[in-house]
Amino acid sequence: MKALEERIKQDGRIIGKDVLKVDSFLNHQIDPKLMQEMGMTFAELFQNEGIDKILTVESSGIAPAIMTGLALDVPVVFARKNKSLTLPDNVWTADVYSFTKQTTNHIMIDKRFLKSNDRVLIIDDFLANGQAVLGLVSIVNQAQATVIGAGIVIEKTFQNGRRQLDEQGIRVESLARIKNFNDGEVEFI
Ligand code: G4P
Repeated sequence: MKALEERIKQDGRIIGKDVLKVDSFLNHQIDPKLMQEMGMTFAELFQNEGIDKILTVESSGIAPAIMTGLALDVPVVFARKNKSLTLPDNVWTADVYSFTKQTTNHIMIDKRFLKSNDRVLIIDDFLANGQAVLGLVSIVNQAQATVIGAGIVIEKTFQNGRRQLDEQGIRVESLARIKNFNDGEVEFI
């Protein structure tokens, strides 16, 4: 998506060797217009798939997920990150290990909000190692619902998330695909 790539070039900041900070328009301060355009783009990409639910994980996935749900006119559910060790028994859960943050999050979705006949589109802000999306896929599988695909705002192709999802046969659509950070510049595919 051209507008997103331009915004990343203009406002993104590279931290270390593999992290892109986009907090001025994506995951801290939010540009609603850009977010809406992303939602409409995801909706177009998946418009013929009979999607009836959008799934994401808090917190940064929520904004693009809502815009996609609005464009497709379907409900949006976000997995909560559970901090306590005791889990209620009316939830589907998965453990998500973050290589970026080196922490494990227990994510959960109330069983009332995911049914076996749901055709689910997963939306997230970043695809790095794929662990968040795989956690959501695991939850959809537990509910015996169907994963139709994953819509990603920014994919870092030099990490192995895409490969992990390909191995599971999941269709992935990314709005910006970063090839590398060369000399402090973001290079897209
Ligand atoms: P993975 O899900 O693809 O395996 O990613 P990973 O574990 O490496 O990343 C975990 C968290 O870090 C996620 O946020 C993800 O959105 C974020 N992240 C990954 N790469 C980048 C990056 O280059 N830039 C930024 N800004 N974030 C990145 P989270 O822990 O779920 O937190 P939240 O922000 O959604 O609350």
